[in-house]
Amino acid sequence: MDSKSITGFSKLNKTQKLEWLTNHYLLENENESSEFEAFWLPDQEAQKIIDGFSENTVSNFILPYGLAPNFLIDGHIYCIPMVIEESSVVAAASSAAKYWMERGGFTTTILGTTKVGQVHFKWFGEKRLIHQLFPDIEHHLRLNVEPLTENMSKRGGGIKRIELLDFTDYEPALYQIRAHFETCDSMGANFINSVLENFAITLENYFLDSLQVPDQHRDVDVIMSILSNYTPECLVRAEVHCNINELGTFANGMLAEQLAEKFKTAVNIADIDPYRATTHNKGIFNGIDAVILATGNDFRATEAAGHTYAARDGKYRSLSHCEIKDGVFRFWLDIPLAIGTVGGLTSLHPLAKKSLEILGNPSAEQLMRIIAAAGLAQNFAAVRSLVTTGIQQGHMKMHMMNILNHLHASEGEVKKALCNFEDKTVSYASVRDYLESIRKA
Ligand code: MEV
Repeated sequence: MDSKSITGFSKLNKTQKLEWLTNHYLLENENESSEFEAFWLPDQEAQKIIDGFSENTVSNFILPYGLAPNFLIDGHIYCIPMVIEESSVVAAASSAAKYWMERGGFTTTILGTTKVGQVHFKWFGEKRLIHQLFPDIEHHLRLNVEPLTENMSKRGGGIKRIELLDFTDYEPALYQIRAHFETCDSMGANFINSVLENFAITLENYFLDSLQVPDQHRDVDVIMSILSNYTPECLVRAEVHCNINELGTFANGMLAEQLAEKFKTAVNIADIDPYRATTHNKGIFNGIDAVILATGNDFRATEAAGHTYAARDGKYRSLSHCEIKDGVFRFWLDIPLAIGTVGGLTSLHPLAKKSLEILGNPSAEQLMRIIAAAGLAQNFAAVRSLVTTGIQQGHMKMHMMNILNHLHASEGEVKKALCNFEDKTVSYASVRDYLESIRKA
């Protein structure tokens, strides 16, 4: 067997795993293990919690945790924690937040909080019969799952609706039980999946026991039971608006009317062209993912839902919209956000817990509002830059700081470099050469 493969890796302890890794994959340097160990938390109990999130862990991967203050959302000021590695994102969010704070802030609306789960199954009996039996099946599904839903019901959640969908035109005998859930302040993935697996068992037993089912059709073939990450009914809108003449003036002497028109055209382009829409929406997710990560939520689920929602009419489009009407500039974002503020990582990850504390321990609905506002702010900042100065200006400044840090520039050297490169193109070579020249001098 290739010496780079191994059986029983998961049984090794952390130190043994690192030893194996460095002996088989990182042979250059004797101290490779310590480079991983350097990122272990000094508090062993805290480290144990982090290790418990995943499998085969050997270290922690550090990302910057930043703050975007001055978010006025529905009349409350928030300082939003953001976890992101990309330079300029937090600065852009902060700048847009401040800009809109001076123009009335963000207003948000919860358009729905319903989540969906599915049991996909095959049944080869007569179509008419399963539709006829479904009200009785639903009764049994609800009854048998009561022990699982009791607590959620007490919190005001549970199963809202159950329907039978017929996919037999696409695949022989294929049906789906689609259930709609309210999961209150939790994201609800575990709750929904447990309910669905209980549904699957009830369904199988129902067809075994029912007197109305002919013996040759007593078998239900459950294919899978799983929540859907597409949550178009767990939706929030964030919006900003102001009179056009309150927009102010912009870089290169651009006037408010010009900015408004250009901005609206830029958003329309993202509605027309999927190539632009993808980048436009990526900018929105720069803000959204950063808050999702900081609060211990699932960014893959949010991304998946957002992109499907962006393509809901069959074409991938912008998630945000812009309107100029009666002298008012209005910019808004509708985004599905299935997130939680209790359970999962939100209460286990020490910094996720802190993030929620910074945000005033919000309910899931409040957090949906905050995240949507962060996404809209990010999108506003990106498009504003694109239609005025271009994004490289701000971005390059951050990039230059990264280069300067990499080259161990002193505080004085940083000051000089920032001044020197104000009107010059930034590249690694140009900054390195400049530093060398001032160091020689
Ligand atoms: C970069 O991470 C995000 C942008 O490309 C978004 C956009 O183009 O709208 C600046």
